[in-house]
Amino acid sequence: MSINDKKIMLSGITATGKLTLANYIGAIRNMVKLQDQYENYIFIADLHALTLPIDPQELEQNRRNIFALFRACGIDTNKTTLFFQSDILEHGMMNWLVLTNTTIGELSRMTQFKDKSSKVKTANGMETIPTGLLMYPTLMVGDILLYNADIIPVGIDQKQHVELTRNLAIRLNNKYKTNFKVPEPYIPEVGAKIMSLTEPTKKMSKSDKNEKSSIYLLDDPEKAYKKIMKAVTDSEGKIYLSDEKPGIKNLLTIYSALTDKTLEQTSELFADKNYGELKQAVGEEVKSFLIDIQAKYAEAMKHIDEEAKIGAEKARKVAHKNLEKLMKGMGLNNASK
Ligand code: TYM
Repeated sequence: MSINDKKIMLSGITATGKLTLANYIGAIRNMVKLQDQYENYIFIADLHALTLPIDPQELEQNRRNIFALFRACGIDTNKTTLFFQSDILEHGMMNWLVLTNTTIGELSRMTQFKDKSSKVKTANGMETIPTGLLMYPTLMVGDILLYNADIIPVGIDQKQHVELTRNLAIRLNNKYKTNFKVPEPYIPEVGAKIMSLTEPTKKMSKSDKNEKSSIYLLDDPEKAYKKIMKAVTDSEGKIYLSDEKPGIKNLLTIYSALTDKTLEQTSELFADKNYGELKQAVGEEVKSFLIDIQAKYAEAMKHIDEEAKIGAEKARKVAHKNLEKLMKGMGLNNASK
């Protein structure tokens, strides 16, 4: 099969906060697994980070950390075009073209918009909801269409945005005779939604203020081990798989993902053990995983600028070609070309 026949994989991570084990298990792990079979585009979604107020220095730090962590987790720049979203100006233009084909109703029904905007609204009132929050999904739709991607490895919380992309691909194709592919989300069987360690009914999130709720990929491994030992469980004392036992289920899930086992295999393995033993085993897996990636992270940090430049050059060509197709379809034939 020549490279041109390969299907296209694309995904991104927003440069807000510090990457967590949930980002690895829910998304990065699959990106790494898929990169041998596809033509791949992976980026640091730094434009998405602007949807909520930012500190410029912190953003700059986050985006570089994420680039190096992608590399440390196994994204190989010989197989994958890895880049910063803001290096490709076509993302902004594409967002506008997509945005003008949506309605406020459609965007305000997005679950993530409802969640995030309701927090701002409760604290400060409706008038203070950032416009970027509403437009965030169209930026993401544009990201996917710019590379005409087939498959999008993400956690379950991004599924609705990929569904919106599917709708928009069909809508644009019908209206403007483009031929965008209709992408599929690729969601892991184990670990599509890793939960908070302190409140296991809530998802683990890089924007959680409580540092004990999340394992960060750059956490000191001993500290991470302790967070697992303190993870909230329940008082029953028996290990089995049940939605009524979210803390235990979460630990079994983390263990399964890091050891490549099914949830059933893991729950059998721990059926006769106590909670302390389960936590120790999960803690050890997490610790050795962090030690391994952190050793590679330091080296990866040294090559960001040169690698990001190569990635941007490759990505820009593809993005430009696909943007032009839509512009042409919409009647925007620029005289300068
Ligand atoms: P973001 O940065 O919130 O999350 C990055 C990836 O991690 C997954 N994830 C989780 N998986 C399992 N359990 C969790 N608790 C958990 N939390 C996060 C997310 O599902 C995601 O796959 N809008 C995207 C970034 C983006 C993007 C794109 C993704 C921008 N453009 C185009 C795919 C395609 C986001 O904010 O993900």
